[in-house]
Amino acid sequence: MSVLITGSGLYTPSQSISNDELVESYNKYVDSYNLENEEAIKSGDLMALVHSDSDFIKKVSGIEQRFVLDKDGILDPKRMRPSLKERSDEEISIQAEIAVDACKQAMEKAGRSADDIDAVICGCANLQRAYPAIAIEVQESLNIEGYAYDMNVACSSSTFAIQNAYNDILSGVAERILVVNPDICTGHLNFRDRDGHFIFGDACTSVLLEKDTGNPQSNAFEILGTKLKTKFSNNIRNNFGFLNKPEDSNSEAPDKLFIQNGRKVYKDVVPMVEGHIKTHLEELNLEVSDLSRLWLHQANLNMNESISKRILGRDASEKEMPIVLNEYANTSSAGSIIAFHKNNSDINAGEVGVICSFGAGYSVGSVVLRKL
Ligand code: COA
Repeated sequence: MSVLITGSGLYTPSQSISNDELVESYNKYVDSYNLENEEAIKSGDLMALVHSDSDFIKKVSGIEQRFVLDKDGILDPKRMRPSLKERSDEEISIQAEIAVDACKQAMEKAGRSADDIDAVICGCANLQRAYPAIAIEVQESLNIEGYAYDMNVACSSSTFAIQNAYNDILSGVAERILVVNPDICTGHLNFRDRDGHFIFGDACTSVLLEKDTGNPQSNAFEILGTKLKTKFSNNIRNNFGFLNKPEDSNSEAPDKLFIQNGRKVYKDVVPMVEGHIKTHLEELNLEVSDLSRLWLHQANLNMNESISKRILGRDASEKEMPIVLNEYANTSSAGSIIAFHKNNSDINAGEVGVICSFGAGYSVGSVVLRKL
């Protein structure tokens, strides 16, 4: 029996922030901080903050802009975080709302309705509440019978969720499953951190997995295999959690938002992903030369160029390794699926590609696909 991906969806926020806009706001914050703390800086008790730079951001990351749910709050130098209105329990949550949008698109692409779906798995790096699960709210909003649950493996949540859906379909507990990744990354980004204030954007992706009934749509992909790998690392962390209050920890401390040692992450993760994809291909009796598409996690352009070069033994063309991070920045679990969603219609029947996400944990997940 085989399992197919028959549709995908992408919710993109209507607002965006260019590097120049982000840097202008950051630099205003720096100037007012340095002015307010002039005495302490002069006496050596405090370090002066240093301006950020648009050209630096583009050069080290490849990011040119990001889509966001709220631009004004982020760019206000006195606020520097999105401003999202708290919703009542009777209203749909923001995360479920964008998830429903992406799921509807995936179902429409696949020619399926809610009656056809057996489960919803929501995989993302940050969930806006502990419970009830966002996935169950999505299930309710779409009128889907069956089961739904949330899971979090940071940026790799999408591929880890796809493996769960794949195995549930193979084992016969479900026939069609929506996997959805509503990643509102600007909620956990420290916009006062010069090293990383440019990294993230917001988006939501969805894919529909289904049992092959021998009657697939023309745009379907067969899943040839999935493979996951984790290895503990403190180099990407977020200590926000439900024990912060009982521990009386400082909720304003930087470690309650995303924090990383980007250099170390880069060095550790590049060979990890290279080895992972090569091993996965070997296990599926495929050669590197069989790969015509690399839909990689979208965190850093240089990183993706380095990974693809190590795998292919040469530079990947723009078509072979689609890049969306210039426009979307890092959208965590959504990134590799955005690359897939926007760049799969021109692939020929029989061609093989790999979706690969990677990030905190460390975690790496790959899904090898063949176009039907
Ligand atoms: N503007 C201008 N200069 C800046 C800056 C900014 N916003 N932020 C840092 N710099 C400076 C630093 O002070 C440093 O200066 P120094 O060399 O004089 O000390 C220099 O730029 C290099 O900083 P560094 O942080 O080492 O840059 P980098 O080349 O490692 O790039 C990242 C930073 C975050 C873009 C990069 O490390 C990265 O993307 N890593 C992988 C992260 C990743 O994939 N994470 C997964 C998340 S899901």
